[in-house]
Amino acid sequence: MDIDSLVELIRNKAWKHYSPEPGHDWLHAERVYRMCMKIREREGGDPEVLAAAALLHDVGVQNELEQNVDHSEESAKIAGEILREIGFSSHKIKKVQEVIRQHRFKNSVKATTLEAKILQDADRLDAIGAIGIARTFSYGGSRKVPMYSDDRNVTSTLQHFHDKLLKIRSVLNTETAKAIAKERHEFMEVFLSRFLKEIEGEA
Ligand SMILES: [Fe+2]
Ligand SMILES: [Fe+2]
Repeated sequence: MDIDSLVELIRNKAWKHYSPEPGHDWLHAERVYRMCMKIREREGGDPEVLAAAALLHDVGVQNELEQNVDHSEESAKIAGEILREIGFSSHKIKKVQEVIRQHRFKNSVKATTLEAKILQDADRLDAIGAIGIARTFSYGGSRKVPMYSDDRNVTSTLQHFHDKLLKIRSVLNTETAKAIAKERHEFMEVFLSRFLKEIEGEA
């Protein structure tokens, strides 16, 4: 099966399972898919396994929000059902499920295959740069978290940049992703310094 037909088949079955939350919606899955394919051009990896894993990696987020289950496990389960329906080989379904189980940042799992390394990288790249900034403020807004605070004990979206986003560059697996992360990281630094200046009325 060519990749475009595979993507089309998966899209038709997967998008309705996706959470409407902007950070983990179908558009996030599509961006991660495109980035996986871009990284794969240099790093290699099975294109079918990677495409399927990327498009389905967060399909269980809605169940996590509703039932407090781990979404990487849940996504692997739903991915298995969808891929069986479209006639994916059981050998490749197992591979896809393993890649999906290993994607989660919070679980800090070490990726054991090239495809898992690439998905981790693509997912993390989507958390930085302009998209990362947009996702972070959008998520903070949905949780009523203040954008910034003078009080260090108060969780703020600005603090999240220091706790997580500015560290992402150093936890990537592939050289290709590290090169892409460099520009995204620098863009966030420019944004943050401007943001702080505007808070103080200096710009
Ligand atoms: Fe995820
Ligand atoms: Fe994701």
